[in-house]
Order: sequence, then structure tokens, then C-alpha cells
Amino acid sequence: MIVEPSIAKTRSLIDRWRTSGETIGLVPTMGYFHAGHLALMNQCRQTADRTVVSLFVNPTQFGADEDLDLYPRDFEGDCDKARAAGVDMVFCPEAGAMYGAAHRTIVTVSELTEGLCGVDRPDHFTGVTTVVTKLFNITGPDYAFFGEKDFQQLTVIMRLVNDLNFNIKVVGVGIVRERDGLAMSSRNAYLSASEREEAVVLYRALKTIRDEAVCKRYRDSSALLTSGRALIERSPACTVDYLSIADERTLQPQHTVTDRCRVFGAIKVSGRIRLIDNLALYG
Ligand code: PAJ
Repeated sequence: MIVEPSIAKTRSLIDRWRTSGETIGLVPTMGYFHAGHLALMNQCRQTADRTVVSLFVNPTQFGADEDLDLYPRDFEGDCDKARAAGVDMVFCPEAGAMYGAAHRTIVTVSELTEGLCGVDRPDHFTGVTTVVTKLFNITGPDYAFFGEKDFQQLTVIMRLVNDLNFNIKVVGVGIVRERDGLAMSSRNAYLSASEREEAVVLYRALKTIRDEAVCKRYRDSSALLTSGRALIERSPACTVDYLSIADERTLQPQHTVTDRCRVFGAIKVSGRIRLIDNLALYG
């Protein structure tokens, strides 16, 4: 496996694969790999001839009061896991190489980025779409893989690719969960044992809403959300950031559940660890 921090060398290595007729898959990540990241890498390996993983903790998607400095990192461990997953190249640029002092360009997707996570994190998605545009231009992939765990991010990237005519097929990969249902996340590493036990309440609340919508055919979003919120509020360490039933294409909140709806949730554990999750309300 090639581990390459240089943008120029990454370009020329990938160019060589492309000119010999191989297809390229990109898995953008911020590292601290868990089974969710590995599922993306596996899907990439099954789809493309070459699997490139970018590992870059992107400073521009973190707010001033967020966890950039604390964000968990394990470069050697990540390389071991990527190697074991059959990854061909880890592209791991320095922040200074991605954002030189003269950097002035941003890429923004409107509307889709304003609700859900965009309410509390107003500049987050501009940071994501800017870095993903740069990663697409550096690696020139045929396929790019994103997890449904960050469903709003996946939707925003699909819009970006359509709107800016990137010739890339975006592939969404289902959420990988712990045994009790908690969605895997690098941020789960921040949780103490008791916080970890309580954190699963987000999944339980979404699951309760899903069961009531799918099995009992309840259609009234506000009643469904009230019962989900009550469940989370019973957990002393957890507070609700948002709980929303929204159309999965437009991400607009819906009063009545349709067969294109998902329930989206974000909680804070102990006021500091922000976790997100979502479930389809159909199927
Ligand atoms: P990161 O949080 O490292 O996630 C990298 C990819 O892994 C994302 O597409 C995310 O949705 C996916 N992922 C994380 N947990 C998952 C799970 N439990 N199941 C399935 N997929 C999961 O998302 C980012 O990094 C950044 O915003 C990035 C796109 C790399 C831009 O900086």
C-alpha cells in the first residue's frame, strides 16, 4: 500500500493507473478508522480497480468552538487497517498543502445545507464541499463512497457532483452499527463507559419512531417526534440537538410521513459529544 502525502505524486501515481485502463475509487475520510470506514473501503474494492483512501482532518469543516484539536487520530493504526482492507493508496496531505496562505476559494451548496446539522454548524458543509471538491480534483476518481450515517453530507455531495458536472458516480453505503444499534463514529471514542451506555438512546428513539411509522402506519410527524424526544430526555446525559422527519431528497421537514421520509437526529452527550444518526421510515 502506498502512503503518499504529496498532492503532485498522488496525481501522477493515479494518472498512471488511469492510463493503463484501471478505474479509480475514492473513499474520503478523516481517519480513526472503524468498521463503518472499512465498509466503504470494501465497497470501493468491489466496485473499482484501485481504491484510494484520503485521510485528512479537514480544519475548514470544524467550527471555532468544535473539536478539531481533540479529534481522535491514529495514523499508524489507520494505515494498518487500510492495508488489511486491501487499499491501494492512502493520500494524507498536510493542512498547509491543502490550504496555502493565499487560499481564497470555497464551494457552497445552498438550501440542502441549511437545515438539520446546518442549523448548529452553519459553515460545516462549505468546509466539506470545498475539501471534497479539492479531493475530487486531485484524485480524479470514477467512483466516490460516502456513508449514509452522514446522510445530509451524502445528499449534499450528490448535489455538488450533479451541479458542477463532476464525472463521478457517488455511492452511498449503509450505516454500520455496534451490537446495540449505536452508529459507529470516530467520536464514540470520546464516550466514557456510562456515556456510551446512554448514547444508544438516539438509535432507540429513531427505531421507536421507525416502528411506529412502518409497523403501525402512524403518519403524524409531530406526534412521532414527541415520543422520540421524550425517550431521549429520559436519559440524563443526553440532550436533543434536533429530531426531524424530512424528505430524503430535499431534506425538508414533512408534517406527514411519506414513503420518501427519513427520521434524522442529533444529540449531545454530557453537553460536549455530538452524535448523529438517521433511519428510513419505509421498507
Ligand atoms: P469521516 O467522519 O471520517 O467519515 C468518512 C466516511 O465514513 C463518511 O462518508 C461517513 O459517512 C462514513 N461513515 C462514518 N461512520 C459510518 C458508519 N457507522 N457507517 C457507514 N459509514 C460511516 O465524513 C467525513 O469524514 C468528512 O466530512 C469527509 C467527507 C472526509 C470530508 O472531510
